[in-house]
Amino acid sequence: MIEAISAANEGHVIAYGDDVFTARAVKTFQRHFGRDVAVFFVFGGTGANVLGLTAVTKSYNAVVCAETAHINVDECGAPEKFSGCKLLSVPNPDGKLRVEMIKHFLHGVGFEHHVQPRVISVSQATEMGTVYTKNELKTLSAFAHKNNMLLHVDGARISNAAVSLNASFKEITADVGVDVLSFGGAKNGMMYGEAVVFFDKNHARDFKYIRKQGMHLPSKMRFISAQFDALLSGDLWKRSALHANRMAQILGAELGKIPSITLTQPVEANGVFAVIPRKYIDELQKKYFFYVWNEEISEVRFMTSFDTTEEDIEKFVALVKKTVR
Ligand SMILES: Cc1ncc(COP(=O)(O)O)c(C=O)c1O
Repeated sequence: MIEAISAANEGHVIAYGDDVFTARAVKTFQRHFGRDVAVFFVFGGTGANVLGLTAVTKSYNAVVCAETAHINVDECGAPEKFSGCKLLSVPNPDGKLRVEMIKHFLHGVGFEHHVQPRVISVSQATEMGTVYTKNELKTLSAFAHKNNMLLHVDGARISNAAVSLNASFKEITADVGVDVLSFGGAKNGMMYGEAVVFFDKNHARDFKYIRKQGMHLPSKMRFISAQFDALLSGDLWKRSALHANRMAQILGAELGKIPSITLTQPVEANGVFAVIPRKYIDELQKKYFFYVWNEEISEVRFMTSFDTTEEDIEKFVALVKKTVR
């Protein structure tokens, strides 16, 4: 990434994305997702979600999402503030939405006293480290489209999901009926930068204005574009995500062997969720930063990344074994 940024730092180009780096990166996205996608680069993931959702909704609409969704719990209300939409959040056991959980929101369709559901938003991989299968996504998009709704994917970790499913990006987005995607760069090794991908160009018609008004039009766009090109033109995205997922597998397997630790989710991407007795958590947090995901049940979240090493895992597991009895 640093090399890509450095190479893009030669000479001068026109600002705001009218440059060869951006043209090349957009083509790279189109090779992965399909020739007809519209692609826009933004600074961060919250912005990608908020602006992507804003582009396809009106303020009287609602966005249906998992209770655990990043848009629901980790974006400080930005989706509600900027799109004006109400989020209809759904309790779930594993980060995933299913049609049976959201059907009842349709009872108010056409009734002026109720918000009108317009988008189903899922995260892939989910905030619980699980991964939607192609069929699960297809079922959700079919339900959405039948009911005049769209399917949005928060793909902050879509590379981890793709390698977990051994699928291409297109197979888990365009081919299963996804309408709008927030594509994650930072979590797979970029310094910064995310993208909003529209699978129907009509939905992208006003996006350039929405992005600028939403303060996500980088003047020095080339530095995001160059990173995306470095990530996606070869197999760097795949190698990095495979590696992160493999590290999570090792970590999950090792923690699962410790009698007083219970894994709470299958390890399908780069996250490991576990219940650890509360009394040991502070001690572990003195040496390692991690979130307590659910205070009530003392569930914690461990994440691995493109640069986690086997040695990092060994050291961490050794500390856990020494601390947790
Ligand atoms: C599921 C998910 N979506 C989106 C984001 C993007 O967040 P940010 O605005 O920090 O780039 C994150 C980051 O933690 C995430 O986990």
